[in-house]
Amino acid sequence: MSTATILPGIDLSRTPRPSSGFDPEVIDRQSIADLQAVGSDKWTRYPGCIGAFIAEMDFGLAPAIQRAIHDATDRCALGYIPDPWKRRLAEACALWQRERYGWDVDPSRIRVAPDILEILEVFLREVVGRGHAIVVPTPAYMPFLSVPRLYGVNVIEVPMLRRVQSVQSAQSAESSDSGNPAATGWDFDFEAIERAFAEPSTRGFMLCNPHNPIGKVLTEGEMLRISELAARYDVRIFSDEIHAPFVYRGRHVPFATLNELTARQSMTATSASKSFNIPGTKCAQVILTNPDDYEMWMDRAEWSEHQTATIGAIATTAAYTEGGDWYEDMLRYVRGNERLLDSWMRGELRKVGYVEPQGSYIAWLDFSPLGIEHPADYFYKKAHVALTDGRECGRVGAGCVRMNFAMPRPLLEECLTRMAAALKADGLI
Ligand SMILES: Cc1ncc(COP(=O)(O)O)c(C=O)c1O
Repeated sequence: MSTATILPGIDLSRTPRPSSGFDPEVIDRQSIADLQAVGSDKWTRYPGCIGAFIAEMDFGLAPAIQRAIHDATDRCALGYIPDPWKRRLAEACALWQRERYGWDVDPSRIRVAPDILEILEVFLREVVGRGHAIVVPTPAYMPFLSVPRLYGVNVIEVPMLRRVQSVQSAQSAESSDSGNPAATGWDFDFEAIERAFAEPSTRGFMLCNPHNPIGKVLTEGEMLRISELAARYDVRIFSDEIHAPFVYRGRHVPFATLNELTARQSMTATSASKSFNIPGTKCAQVILTNPDDYEMWMDRAEWSEHQTATIGAIATTAAYTEGGDWYEDMLRYVRGNERLLDSWMRGELRKVGYVEPQGSYIAWLDFSPLGIEHPADYFYKKAHVALTDGRECGRVGAGCVRMNFAMPRPLLEECLTRMAAALKADGLI
């Protein structure tokens, strides 16, 4: 395999590269034109803009994945997904869960689907059911609000709470001219969650850990409290753990591993599509720790499995079994980006509402302290930066944007520079 194709536009063959194939120096040299030439949605949907909206990374492919895909095309092995690949993938996913999160999960309980949203659709259709409701903490990943409605499932939005520092330290921070200095974290509003669970139609809860878009990594205590409330009101839990590989502080604990009850309450959805940037290969995994869910899945989700891409199973298996070194190097780089973003948010952009993410590569920025009503439009027009409009993430999202910071670091610097320049030009910072 030629290394020259891992990042199009850059001749990697002349560059000494780390053994993982993840080379920060090469990534740093990627230009907007290079990324547009790759042709991702992120860099083509808004021509001329820095793409910081959709959750894709710009770091090429792990060599193990590229090798596996080349090998599959060499063998012309691209028919419908066969059982042996489903089994290999389930074993690879179980290995990843065991090695990374200490979850000794039985591979026979791991099934495939094209993506997380398809798994959510099965959950909505079969577990929650038409005419019932699902509780979604907000701001939320946008489809968590729109997809349930397609299945006749009502969404009950429960806003997350911004944690505030002690009064004294908040006052001293405010005196340093900070716009929203006191927010140090996010908490669940358990009272509001309990009220929503008590609604007679409520059947499901959307757990997203790490949380997109606020980057919260849930503690065991928080998950146990949710589990306790869910047990009281007979609510099932959809646990989306797609961002589990991106945790900067603390560690990822799969919800289903806490105890027997949480295993029965939850349907876990996971995928290598974020951590290895292969969402277009269409292969996610569902971990069915509730025996009734397993029966249901085997009886009613055949077409979801059938839609899963063989090339995705091949790519994902390679990612989980051979991609560890690339992943570790990638994570170090993304963590560096997070540090860069954080320094801007504590420096030039300190008047913007912000809580440092504990995980994921997404940040939630609140421009309402600056009086900007529609910040996504504002930065699109004034800075040529494409962000997700916070209103798509729930009613609490007015004045906010969701920002993806997994891009080459010089482009992230450019992105933040452009945003700050627009705000300065308008006298807002
Ligand atoms: C929390 C979360 N869940 C699900 C998805 C979508 O995953 P998939 O493409 O596998 O449906 C994303 C994509 O950004 C996400 O951030």
